[in-house]
Parts: sequence; C-alpha cells; structure tokens
Amino acid sequence: MTAGVRLSHKAFIQPIFVDASVETPRSVEGLNDVRVDSVASVIETIAADIESGISKFLLFPIPAKKSTKDFDYAFAVSVIKNIRSQFGERVWLAADLCLCSYTEHGHCGILNDQGTKLLNHPTVAELTKYAALLADAGADCIAPSDMMDGRIGAIRAQLDVLGHDEVSIMSYAAKFSSQFYGPFRDACHSAPSGTGLKNRKTYQIDAANLNDALASALRDEKEGADILMVKPAALYTDVIKTLKQQSLKPIAAYHVSGEYAAVEMLAEKGMADRAGVHLEVWTALVRAGADIIISYAARNAKQWIEAKKY
Ligand code: PBG
Repeated sequence: MTAGVRLSHKAFIQPIFVDASVETPRSVEGLNDVRVDSVASVIETIAADIESGISKFLLFPIPAKKSTKDFDYAFAVSVIKNIRSQFGERVWLAADLCLCSYTEHGHCGILNDQGTKLLNHPTVAELTKYAALLADAGADCIAPSDMMDGRIGAIRAQLDVLGHDEVSIMSYAAKFSSQFYGPFRDACHSAPSGTGLKNRKTYQIDAANLNDALASALRDEKEGADILMVKPAALYTDVIKTLKQQSLKPIAAYHVSGEYAAVEMLAEKGMADRAGVHLEVWTALVRAGADIIISYAARNAKQWIEAKKY
C-alpha cells in the first residue's frame, strides 16, 4: 500500500535482433532467453512476446554485408515492413538507428580515409537518409544510438519534411562509453576492429562526466527528441535522477546487455533469485526517475511483476 514505486509491464520495451544471414535463430553468449532471429523467426518471437504481455519493441537489424560507405538498408526496411504487415497496430516498433552493424570497422559512423577519426557531418547525413527509410517502412519511433552531434535536429527536420511528423525520436541521449556492451556487440558483430580508431571514446560519454551526459541529453531535447535515454542504466541512476529533474521528457533506462548478463550469471550460479534481481534493478530505475525500461527480460516483466504478490 505504501510502496513508492509500482512497476507495470506497460512501461517495458523488448530489444529484438534480426540477422539477414541467419537461417535458424542463434543464441548469444550472456544473453539468456534472447536469440538473434531470422526474418521468418522474428515473427514467432514477437507473437510469443505479445502473448506474454509485451507490445513494444526495439529492433536491431543486422545486414549480411558490411562496407565502409554506400550502405544497403533494404534488409532493415523489409524487416520493418514485414513486422508491420503481420501485426499492424498491435505493436509499437522502434528502430535502432546506427551504422555499427553496417561498417567493416564496427564504428557507429563513417571514418576518414586513414581510419583514425569519425566524420560527424557525413555520418549525420547518412543517418538522416536511413531514418527516413525506416520511417517510410513503418517504424513508430527512430532510436539513434550513434552519438553524433546534431543528428536529432537533422533527423527531426527530415522526418517532418517527408510527412512523418508522428514518428517519434527516442534519443540515446546519455550514452556512456561502457564495458557493458560486450554481449550486444557479439550479437550484432559490431565491436570496433581494425588498426584505426580503437574504441568509441571519441563519441560516447565518459563515465566520469555527469555534466557532459546532461548537456548531451538536454541538447537532444532541444533538437526535438521525444524520449531521452540513459544507457547503461543501473550504474547510472544518478544520471537518470538528475536528468529527470531537468527535463519534462519521458526518460528511458536501457539495462544493457552486460548488465543483463551480470544478473543472469548471478542467478545461474545460484547466488540470487533471477526474477528477484531483475525486479530489484527495475524498481531502482523507476525510483530514480525512469519512465520506460528497456530490458532483455522485458518479456518476463508481466509474469514476474504479477508473481510478486503485494
Ligand atoms: C550501437 C549500440 C550499442 C548498444 C545499442 N546500440 C553498443 C555500442 O555502442 O557498441 C548497446 C546495447 C547493449 O549492450 O545492450 N550503437
């Protein structure tokens, strides 16, 4: 009766992976209960998730071919069209917008010829083009995870020009350069590789810099973001809390792959109750100010919340 936080499965988003080169779904180390789907099997995954009470999804399309420029977005477009034609308005579909699973080097954008520097403006132009195609295909929301400067404003303007003013933008606004993205990069084959730029520290936020995260999020809000995301989530509840005080936009907390894997490993070793730990993390995120939770265990949210008999 006196609880300050009440969880609802309605606030959850389930990430889903679809790989163009996959025929039978593959599993990902650390990501229990999550599979990388084929074009056909993602329909089964979503149908089962709807049965479990989840209707909101964050889609990560993984193309078969990687390149350095002239990216081919046909696969992502066809997956969205297919999901939309199967499920219509029964699903809310956000499409992740990034180049990291498209580029040979695994970076989130276009590099200079020497491979030493990420080129902000050409990347924004490319992302804007990609966002328009995702919206044309039927995405309800575009979720840019690249962390380039100025992309939210550019994407918003382009969507509006094309008549997609109802397509929202969920910005990865406070996205830190983190060790907790490992399992995800395995799933998407998107770890930075090669001899040039080694990591994403030149475009993702430093864990030591709260102000930088707030500035980035507030800038995205000003440029037209509808939802501001903090990522990773559980180690960054101070960011969620401070941002909540400074913005009227809904805040999404992304409990990322490594955070999820850590909880799962604890449970697997019998050192904690699986549902119990996830519920505790989610409660902490909402207590800090998160309105929306993105979790790899979202598909269990309804059942686990109901089982916790208040
Ligand atoms: C890519 C992207 C990443 C995640 C979502 N989009 C990882 C990265 O920056 O390498 C991480 C999600 C997770 O770990 O669950 N831009």
